[in-house]
Amino acid sequence: MNFNLTEQQQQIVDQVREFTAQRLAPGVLERDEQQVFPVEAFKEFGAMGMFGLCYPKEFGGTDVGYLPYILAVEEVSKVDSSFGIGFSVNTSLYGGSVMYSSATDEQKKRFLSPIASGKAIGSFGLTEASAGSDAAGQKTIATKDGDDYILNGTKIFNTNGPLADYTVIYALTDPSVGTKSMCAFVVEKGMEGFHVGKVENKMGIRSAQVSEMVLSNVRVSADRMIAKPGEGFKLAMKTLDGGRIGVGAQALGIAEGAFDIAVKYLQEREQFGKPLFKQQYLAFKMAELYADIEKAKLVLYKAAFLKEEGKPFTTAAAVAKLTCTDVAMKVTTECVQMLGGNGYMHEYHVERMMRDAKITQIYEGTNEIQKLVISGGLFRRK
Ligand code: CAA
Repeated sequence: MNFNLTEQQQQIVDQVREFTAQRLAPGVLERDEQQVFPVEAFKEFGAMGMFGLCYPKEFGGTDVGYLPYILAVEEVSKVDSSFGIGFSVNTSLYGGSVMYSSATDEQKKRFLSPIASGKAIGSFGLTEASAGSDAAGQKTIATKDGDDYILNGTKIFNTNGPLADYTVIYALTDPSVGTKSMCAFVVEKGMEGFHVGKVENKMGIRSAQVSEMVLSNVRVSADRMIAKPGEGFKLAMKTLDGGRIGVGAQALGIAEGAFDIAVKYLQEREQFGKPLFKQQYLAFKMAELYADIEKAKLVLYKAAFLKEEGKPFTTAAAVAKLTCTDVAMKVTTECVQMLGGNGYMHEYHVERMMRDAKITQIYEGTNEIQKLVISGGLFRRK
């Protein structure tokens, strides 16, 4: 077992750290207040090849690996986790849906290359009002009409929805047989009948753009179908396995970002005639949080490693998501407490990080769903 990053992995981390300091740190508080996403910075990041780190060159990627991608999500999320989830949904959920589908190489070139090469933005349309944790409860319908399909339905909570050039839409061709008819299509911005619905006003990740995506008689040609009827549910599940490692990385980044701020604060702030870190209660609290972060890092990197190696990783991804997101909630809450009144104030960043951490326990499968996935794996008959 080797815990060192390769030279190439370290280079990616350094490059992302520099980008984050220069392009994401300035204005992060204002973007949170105003719910504005840094679209230009996102495009620049894509042009650096970051959206294609884990995809083959023939489909527009840079083929560097899955762990470097996860390290990049972690790194940006230390400062701006709204950017982190935009990056993760774009890469893991849109990219993963296309890459791991039964789409032909020609379809993958057409639908994955623009995203992996950073020329376009992707989003993922699975969740509906009646299909949250119960992802099988889909109502979106794909009706065959000659060589085409007509799509009708409403997707909700689509991260990147308002920005996306390409969206993967999961739908049923025959509701009477449920997921046995679930398929998936790539739908593009500007197609007749396809539009952005309500844009959400959120507690955290306020700069991320999250919306409904409404489909009213959207005509799509059959060559936009990337998962045939019956393949859609498993594709969504496989894709979410990858997405959950991305959310784990986002959450770990949030925890580390808040922790770093607390280290500095406890060194600088003096009370009772000495710096706060000389209060053993606070020093021990930081030691506990540090140990939690280190444990989360290990399970996260293990899940990324298994995925990169092509080994089964469903359980490892659920463990990583559960662990990292609970650690993010704990660390950010404790950091707000340790910074006292200042911690509650916007300009100290940790309150934003605490708000951002909360959603990581909810999306891409609530942490209760992660326990279902983990326990399901434990007790499945061999
Ligand atoms: N990989 C491949 N196949 C899988 C799988 C996986 N990880 N998990 C399940 N399957 C297969 C099963 O093997 C089974 O196949 P067979 O029919 O051939 O036996 C089939 O899928 C059905 O499996 P289940 O019976 O376990 O399915 P279920 O209906 O009980 O649901 C669930 C399982 C884990 C609860 C699932 O519904 C789930 O993950 N729910 C959470 C949904 C979710 O994460 N939503 C997030 C949306 S994205 C988002 O958050 C927004 C954003 O933009 C950030």
